[in-house]
Amino acid sequence: MEVFKKINPLQDYLSNININKTIGFVPTMGALHEGHLSLIKKSQLESDLTVVSIFVNPTQFDKKEDLITYPKTQQKDIDLLKSIDCDIAFVPSIKDIYENKVKSHNFDFGGLEKVMEGSFRKDHFDGVGTVVKRLLEIVKPTNAYFGEKDFQQLQIIKKMVKIEKIHVNIIGCEIYRENDGLAMSSRNTRLNKKQREEAPLIYQTLLKVQKQFHNNSINDVKEMVKNTFKNNTVLDLEYFEIADIDTLTPTSLKNKNMKYRGFIAVFADTVRLIDNIALN
Ligand code: PAF
Repeated sequence: MEVFKKINPLQDYLSNININKTIGFVPTMGALHEGHLSLIKKSQLESDLTVVSIFVNPTQFDKKEDLITYPKTQQKDIDLLKSIDCDIAFVPSIKDIYENKVKSHNFDFGGLEKVMEGSFRKDHFDGVGTVVKRLLEIVKPTNAYFGEKDFQQLQIIKKMVKIEKIHVNIIGCEIYRENDGLAMSSRNTRLNKKQREEAPLIYQTLLKVQKQFHNNSINDVKEMVKNTFKNNTVLDLEYFEIADIDTLTPTSLKNKNMKYRGFIAVFADTVRLIDNIALN
């Protein structure tokens, strides 16, 4: 595996690759887990060459503490990528990505950025859009892979490449879960024993939502979710919404022509966990 820390050598290397070869790209913030590996495996199956970036992007963290405590395991990540035959690891510095000003671009994602994650995490999606645009422009992949755990992020990135006219296939990949249903996330390593034991309740609740969605009103389903977490002393519900997958606007009325998902964010003390599920 080739490891590049700088942009120019990476681009030189990529420009020498046969023009007919496809490049698959998996951007990550490191602390790699099975969920990331499933994206990388998909890229390896579908693309001739796979590039994985590891970059903890400061501009997408709305809270300084979250950035400081975000797990950073760079050498372990690189070793893991080697062990699964990844072709290229790209590990840039903040200076390489942001040059002189660590600042996000202000995007207009047509409202997708204002709801749910966007309303609770100020400027988060401007930070994501900025770094993903920069990385896509550096790597110039044929395909780029993103997990559906961050479904809102996935839709925003699809919108961003349209607005910015970046030629790349954005490929969404199914949520990868632990055996007990907890969606895989780098943040899971920050859960203590009690929190980790309680965390599967998030997915169990989403499965209940999926069951109840057809025969109950959205307001009743939302009430059920609120009640599930009301007396829980470990998990604190931040939001639960049902939204159609195109506009992501939370709704209280169903339209049979639309496709819906349930979206949830929960705190276990300072660890924020998100998940979502398809409802129809
Ligand atoms: O999903 C993530 O890990 C990050 O938001 C991403 C897409 C790598 C951008 O920093």
